[in-house]
Amino acid sequence: MSNQYVDDLIGTKFGDFALRELVGEGTFSHVFRALDKHKNEKAIKIPRRFSGKEERFEFVPTQVFIKRGQRFSPQEASPIHILRIQVARTKQVIDQGIVRVEDYSFDGDNSHCRMPFLAGETLREYMRSGPVPVAVLRNLALTLSRLNHLDSFGYHGDVKPENMVVTANGVILVDCGYFGNVQVGERLDDQQKTLIVTTPRYYPLLRPDDLLAFGLIMWEAAMRKPLLESVAYSGDFPDNNVSDRLNDMVLEEEGLGNFNLTSILKAERPSHVRQGLPPQVDNLLLKAVRLQFNKKDELDFDEGFENFEEIANELRKLAQAGIHYL
Ligand SMILES: Nc1ncnc2c1ncn2[C@@H]1O[C@H](COP(=O)(O)OP(=O)(O)O)[C@@H](O)[C@H]1O
Ligand SMILES: [Mg+2]
Repeated sequence: MSNQYVDDLIGTKFGDFALRELVGEGTFSHVFRALDKHKNEKAIKIPRRFSGKEERFEFVPTQVFIKRGQRFSPQEASPIHILRIQVARTKQVIDQGIVRVEDYSFDGDNSHCRMPFLAGETLREYMRSGPVPVAVLRNLALTLSRLNHLDSFGYHGDVKPENMVVTANGVILVDCGYFGNVQVGERLDDQQKTLIVTTPRYYPLLRPDDLLAFGLIMWEAAMRKPLLESVAYSGDFPDNNVSDRLNDMVLEEEGLGNFNLTSILKAERPSHVRQGLPPQVDNLLLKAVRLQFNKKDELDFDEGFENFEEIANELRKLAQAGIHYL
């Protein structure tokens, strides 16, 4: 992960703040801890100047798509452009559950965004080191509930374990995604194009559906393995016991060029994989990823939870029943 480019950035100043050390990285950027002369601590996010494509990432990458009419196609995007979109989406948002944008610039090598430094571990680090506390998930559900009700924000769009830091003051989200108009060009057909910046493992419908992303994160935390690990083709799982309507949903997505949902067809009942999983957890996980086993014991679509308050309530019940870790 460490390379010459990152080493050379240490000590560089952005405004009054000098970069001290790399604290994290993502698909499009590096994040450093930075200090000013009074030892005030900040985080400074710098868009990658080189494509990180050749690197083997330890995190789950965010991807960019263009939706034309109903069809999706993958897209290249510049890290500065992505940061610009992010800053535009979050600079007005004031909520304890999302990191504040304090300062920014999009001027060549000076391009950066300054935020409060969040002391803690990402949820990914939590998941690697052991079972995740139900209290952390409930805190995240309540945060997402608030953010989904904020008209100026509405959705996060890239909720994943890498994009949140579990601090002493609760879970704080960083690094939102985007589902919206393409900003470049004035040609007529641009009106029908949507730019999508998200992580398909958690947003397999390529829609700004934070509720499903949260369900997929809970599933992964409890099962120690993501439900949707990779793209797949429905022909890969021909003999599965799956209801017609779930099959049709998958085929419909495939028809639009989206193969990120397909591996849902191989989902198993959580308690069959993890023996001894309490039935409340089994049901919660299935419902949170909008699945059920129907009367014919086929894997089937489920309406799922209506909102984050409902999920938070279920998580509270787990804690009351003495289940404190997933
Ligand atoms: N304000 C912050 N304080 C501390 N660490 C942070 C902060 N913002 C981001 N990070 C860390 O840096 C990583 C990359 O930041 P992120 O904003 O997700 O970049 P990218 O858009 O490239 O994914 C995060 O996964 C997190 O570990
Ligand atoms: Mg990120």
